[in-house]
Amino acid sequence: MTDRATADPAGTTTPPLAGASVEEVAGPAGSAPELPEPHSTIIEVDGLGKNYGNVIALSDVSIVVNAAEVTCILGDNGAGKSTLIKILAGVHQHSAGTMTIDGAERKFTSPRDALALGIATVYQDLAVVPLMPIWRNFFLGSEPTRWMPPVRRLDVTAMKRITRGELLKMGIDLRDVDQPIGTLSGGERQSVAIARAVYFGARVLILDEPTAALGVKQAGVVLRYIAQARDRGLGVVFITHNPHHAYPIGDRFLLLSRGRSLGEYAKPDITIDELTRQMAGGAELEALAHELKR
Ligand SMILES: Nc1ncnc2c1ncn2[C@@H]1O[C@H](COP(=O)(O)OP(=O)(O)OP(=O)(O)O)[C@@H](O)[C@H]1O
Ligand SMILES: [Mg+2]
Repeated sequence: MTDRATADPAGTTTPPLAGASVEEVAGPAGSAPELPEPHSTIIEVDGLGKNYGNVIALSDVSIVVNAAEVTCILGDNGAGKSTLIKILAGVHQHSAGTMTIDGAERKFTSPRDALALGIATVYQDLAVVPLMPIWRNFFLGSEPTRWMPPVRRLDVTAMKRITRGELLKMGIDLRDVDQPIGTLSGGERQSVAIARAVYFGARVLILDEPTAALGVKQAGVVLRYIAQARDRGLGVVFITHNPHHAYPIGDRFLLLSRGRSLGEYAKPDITIDELTRQMAGGAELEALAHELKR
């Protein structure tokens, strides 16, 4: 791809800061607050509820998200997992209960409100453009530009350098950041999205089922990057169906079923067997095993 092809056609993606360095323009999160001390609470929700018309999607749910810890949200289809994280991400508003960020009660009216406080969400259907190079996707919507008289151009060199560097920091060694992101495996794509959120200043990283469509090895790759983000001090909210993905990495576990909490456990208070049993609905699974037996 040539420089011309990548020039910002409308010049609208970044503010016209002539002469500013790339780091100033695109650097990690201008305005999001600093990362707090490890293990201090960033988000606390209490008695949270959400109705969609007559449907009670969430009722009386409470969790905390601490810096440098992983909060796992587990539950079957329709349990309310996505509804909960959409409230944290500012996509939906809660209809009951409270949400407290850095000690102040909040009700977000748009995802921008959440982002401004450093709460970044990676959705399962990643919003990537498959045919565009990795570096282009990394900066999508926040491209740094450089004044190259008589026009302002995308700073391609800087974007490639930063993308490569940020991925390396997360331990992701990609051969070539010029390859289309569509050529990466699902796990690698998730990892790029995580690195991107970290670079743009996330303090809380919300991942909606990042391992759902992945095989054992690729899921392992993503779990490692979740650990990396945690070790860098972020609070991580990890949504999954799979207790075997959640247990090794989670510090606390919230189990949801049909919009209600089945319990919140710190890791020392629950074993993987118990977590799996609760997830499977315990008695329900035993009944199913009986039914399927020949
Ligand atoms: N926009 C909406 N309008 C009406 N009902 C909704 C809406 N979004 C979700 N629901 C309902 O709320 C309940 C919880 O849905 P949610 O998507 O939060 O579940 P989930 O735990 O993320 O499930 P999955 O594992 O399938 O992604 C479901 O009964 C769903 O049908
Ligand atoms: Mg969901």
